[in-house]
Amino acid sequence: MKILVIGGGGREHTLVWKLVNDSCRPQVFCAPGNAGTAGLATNLDIKAEDIPALVAWAKKNRPDLTVVGPEAPLCAGITDVLEKEGLRVFGPSKAAARMEGSKVFAKDVMMAAGVPTAQSSTFTDAGKAIDFIQDIGVPIVIKAEGLAAGKGVTVCATREEAERAVREALVDGAFGEAGQRILVEEFLDGEEVSVLALTDGNHVVLLASAQDHKRAYDQDKGPNTGGMGAYSPAPVLKPGQMPDIEREVFGRTLAELKSRGIHYKGVLYAGLMVTRDGPKVLEFNCRFGDPETQVILPRIEGDLIPALQACIDGTLDPSMVKYKAEACVCVVMAAGGYPGNYQKGKEIRGLKVAAKVKNAVVFHAGTELAGGKVLTAGGRVLGVTALGKTLKAAVDCAYEAVGKIGYDGVMFRRDIAARALQRE
Ligand code: AMP
Ligand code: GLY
Repeated sequence: MKILVIGGGGREHTLVWKLVNDSCRPQVFCAPGNAGTAGLATNLDIKAEDIPALVAWAKKNRPDLTVVGPEAPLCAGITDVLEKEGLRVFGPSKAAARMEGSKVFAKDVMMAAGVPTAQSSTFTDAGKAIDFIQDIGVPIVIKAEGLAAGKGVTVCATREEAERAVREALVDGAFGEAGQRILVEEFLDGEEVSVLALTDGNHVVLLASAQDHKRAYDQDKGPNTGGMGAYSPAPVLKPGQMPDIEREVFGRTLAELKSRGIHYKGVLYAGLMVTRDGPKVLEFNCRFGDPETQVILPRIEGDLIPALQACIDGTLDPSMVKYKAEACVCVVMAAGGYPGNYQKGKEIRGLKVAAKVKNAVVFHAGTELAGGKVLTAGGRVLGVTALGKTLKAAVDCAYEAVGKIGYDGVMFRRDIAARALQRE
């Protein structure tokens, strides 16, 4: 079996790692991949956004399954194009990927479906948006409608901040087309958690809950990042809440999409705020989370490919995904300066020693091979991941492996999962 994985980050290394260990022993290709996927799969020199080159490769090499990692190719419609060529793709169509690609569309679906979420209004005119903010007050959240590489959301504590965020998007065009429409949204207070689900459009299988750490520095200080670490399960959600989330978030959303003629298959990722009134949706993503994937997939017992195939065939069933009892933790090691300007090309030392730490695995994100060395090549460099009988054991093991690795300017948080440990 031949599988193409699209993407080159920590999520994709994790996917490749899980897929190559499947009992059908597939041959895996990764476009573009990184130094970590290079050891498990054949890396292709094609960027994840280069749809024509990806399609040309797939037409020629006919993978039995394509798994799309990032949102950009999904929102650009790669699934539709590959399916037209008779290929099988795990990932939503262009129309379905609008659940991530357009926050206005996603909010409209949620409101129509009765999914618990923040109240919001949509604006294209800065003056009207500012009048509205004067009326309802702060705190308030301003969101660019489209894909803005994680930078389109501003949580505003003051009216001045809110006005600045409105002007940035609607007047200065800071997010280009993605910010020509904005959502002005009710601020939700609580703790965030990610719940991802596999779906074939009709059936839903929730994956284990996970919590990401979006801020750059310890104690949730500093700027927002792509994610500095994660753990699973997330004890902020009680097991008894999962069936409610399955029904009220995923069931209602998929039913509403179906009523609009949109068939969603792949992963649907709900970013939730656990408020005093229960979990509410902050956002949907149309793909696996990064670094949530790094802590969810290692917990899955046995094969993943049958479940991915079932999402395509419409035969998804909860018995297809089984979990180990262990907890999993991922500590992201980043480049100094991330998420601002950072340097690349630093040699990474200690990977072999870290690989010997029992129960730990080092997933690569921004890395590349050059002359037999592994060099840093991105903001998030590695996702050092460990399983443990308890969350504490997993945390200790992950940090033991982190301690073996070094490169110039290395930066990581020392408090991954601290909140969950306190809760325990
Ligand atoms: P999003 O891309 O919509 O998930 O927003 C990015 C981050 O902004 C989220 O992870 C939250 O931390 C924060 N956020 C988004 N919407 C809200 C909201 N309505 N209330 C409070 N915080 C929010
Ligand atoms: N971990 C956040 C995301 O994947 O969007």
